[in-house]
Amino acid sequence: MANNEYSFDTDMVSRLIRKRRTIKPCAYDDRPVPKAVIEKIIENAHWAPTHGQTFPWRFFICCGDARNELANTLCDIYRMITTEDTFKEKKFTGIRQNVLASPVTISIAMKRDETEKIQEIDEVMAVGCAVQNMHLTATAYGLGGFWSTHSAATSKRYCDHLGLSPSDKALGLFFIGYPRKLWPIGKRGPITEVACWED
Ligand SMILES: Cc1cc2nc3c(=O)[nH]c(=O)nc-3n(C[C@H](O)[C@H](O)[C@H](O)COP(=O)(O)O)c2cc1C
Repeated sequence: MANNEYSFDTDMVSRLIRKRRTIKPCAYDDRPVPKAVIEKIIENAHWAPTHGQTFPWRFFICCGDARNELANTLCDIYRMITTEDTFKEKKFTGIRQNVLASPVTISIAMKRDETEKIQEIDEVMAVGCAVQNMHLTATAYGLGGFWSTHSAATSKRYCDHLGLSPSDKALGLFFIGYPRKLWPIGKRGPITEVACWED
């Protein structure tokens, strides 16, 4: 397609956007996700918009046996950052189960540009755009996705564990896997609830 030609199937774009659903690891089957598909997901994430071309997204991909170590790390962190009062056994178990039940877990981070010329909120929003690209790409491949932002995965300790700096942020985990159940149906209200305009 020439650079000045625009021929997209707009119905297809809308269908993809509306088909995207949060599907959690407990609904995935054991099928591995081909490396080429994971690479495509990351490449498309890298095409997200970025204020000032800082490319603030960082992705740490974990699959196979490495999942055990990731599950242990996150559980250890959860123990460290909770007290007897705040610790929830169900949450603790869920943190491990999600990683082990998902063929691929991608840790999401925001790496702040050294000059800090761009405000932090813009960098975080850019990473959100990148995750949306990932989720849409996963959907196009028939993969379910789930962005989880529990306290351990967004903690400073996990940020340190990933080898990032104090000005960076751990922004959670993105799980992907093939759903074994029927694809869930989403629901949204009318746009008049969220948009207004003047003619
Ligand atoms: C930034 C962000 C963080 C999220 N974190 C969580 C989370 O920690 N736990 C969870 O159950 N869902 C989380 N979600 C997923 C939402 O629950 C989900 O998007 C919502 O239920 C709408 O469903 P849909 O994605 O299928 O449209 C998160 C979504 C976003 C955008």
